[in-house]
Amino acid sequence: MRKLTLTILLMLLLSLALAACGGGSDEPAEGGEETAATSVGDAANGERLFNETVIGAASAPGCITCHSLEPGVVLVGPSHSDVGTRAQTAVEGMSAAEYLEQSIREPNAHITEGYTEGVMYQTYGEELTNTQINDLVAFLLTLE
Ligand code: HEC
Repeated sequence: MRKLTLTILLMLLLSLALAACGGGSDEPAEGGEETAATSVGDAANGERLFNETVIGAASAPGCITCHSLEPGVVLVGPSHSDVGTRAQTAVEGMSAAEYLEQSIREPNAHITEGYTEGVMYQTYGEELTNTQINDLVAFLLTLE
């Protein structure tokens, strides 16, 4: 019984810590501001996934083959060195996490200025698991 309570307590603490890390350090959450997305991904795993050259159920080209993490380097898509920051103001009314998730699931929903529709790989939404997408979003949010 005591062991169970302890485990639950530990899990709670862990998720709190994760939520705190994922939220960035800009400002303390004030008022009714949402502090975390519905499920917070694992940024470390997201980083690993981002750097794979092949990804997902259909062996799609990986993110790093089109998105550099070096500032200003354009491979095929925009550099993601600061995508976490850009995502905050990319679409009015969308949080950075929402925008990033949508950009992966429905790449044509919003086209980044200066780029062409249909170039980003289109079917990650079907080929990656929700966990993988959450982890990728968690990683992208850390790129400031
Ligand atoms: C075949 C090349 C290609 C691959 C592979 C690719 N992307 Fe993209 N991506 C693009 C292009 C081009 C754009 C800009 C046009 C647009 O908005 O669709 C883009 C835009 C984005 C954006 C919008 C935000 C921005 O301005 O950068 C995100 C987020 C993104 N990609 C994430 C990913 C992730 C995560 C992966 C891997 C799971 C991935 N991309 C794989 C080409 C690619």
